[in-house]
Amino acid sequence: MNTISRFGAGIALAALTTLACADYPDKPVTLVVPFAAGGPTDKIARDLAEALRKPLGQTVIVDNTVGAGGTIGSARVARATPDGYTLLVNHIGMATAPTLYRKLSYKVPDDFETLGLVNEAPSVLIGKPTLAANSFAELRQWIASSGGKVNLANAGLGSASHLCGLMLQSALKTSMTPVPYKGTAPAMTDLIGGQVDVMCEQAVNAVPQIEGKKVKAYGITSLQRLPLPALRETPTLSEAGLKDFNVQVWHGLYAPKGTPPAVLAKINAALRTALKDPELIKREEALGLAIVNDDRLDPAGHKKFLVAETARWSKVIKDAGEYAD
Ligand code: MLT
Repeated sequence: MNTISRFGAGIALAALTTLACADYPDKPVTLVVPFAAGGPTDKIARDLAEALRKPLGQTVIVDNTVGAGGTIGSARVARATPDGYTLLVNHIGMATAPTLYRKLSYKVPDDFETLGLVNEAPSVLIGKPTLAANSFAELRQWIASSGGKVNLANAGLGSASHLCGLMLQSALKTSMTPVPYKGTAPAMTDLIGGQVDVMCEQAVNAVPQIEGKKVKAYGITSLQRLPLPALRETPTLSEAGLKDFNVQVWHGLYAPKGTPPAVLAKINAALRTALKDPELIKREEALGLAIVNDDRLDPAGHKKFLVAETARWSKVIKDAGEYAD
């Protein structure tokens, strides 16, 4: 092909791309959730998919691509065609996987376009219903005197409960016995059944069990109390003695690197509209979630936050010396 026809082909390709962007989206969009159906991330993603439907003018199909602490689903999106039809909703694991996993097939943030932070999700330190401790101070004393034997459940390496547990042990300057499960559901079942002692679980998942009095609540992991009836009496861990303890799970929306800017702008605009949806706000608040309404809703602000969180958690994980292959 000579220079002139190459030039012509380039123009034709650019015109086609512009046309494709103008029509975006003209078919359903897939939203990859890297965790199991029914779990906290899935619940959030399904609400978001519904709220995105109107502003995008297309169905958003949730696809659970699960395994390896969310890294299988994330890898799938990193490799997807960057056309805006395959998106990812992932939590804090996006920032922790680069340190936690010795082998990771994608780079954070390089292989993704950040589209905006969706929400922040505090966790609650909960215990089995038969625990004698009735306050965080009593629980802390029991943990300190147990010689590391207290069983600390988590939903698997890289799960939010695992990460919160690492931060908790570091703040308490003590260790517990981690008990990893294959997801939040079996971990919660065993906590309710008393096979394990405590867990630091996302409010989305913990609140219904606290309301049903199936587990005991000892403290909120964020700096603000949660305005939910079941947690009115529950202090933050910072108030209860772990000064400045602040672990928030957060969820963000991503596209594969190289997605055209015009498409990214449309998705970001749709996200902003979706996060103002009164139904979505009502459902998120009932689960103790706070919708993000600051500069992290901007792709650039989201990216800056992701990079900062990656550095923050890298230290926690390296100090704990827990890695996955
Ligand atoms: C999930 O949706 O299964 C959770 O967010 C997993 C986790 O606790 O990290």
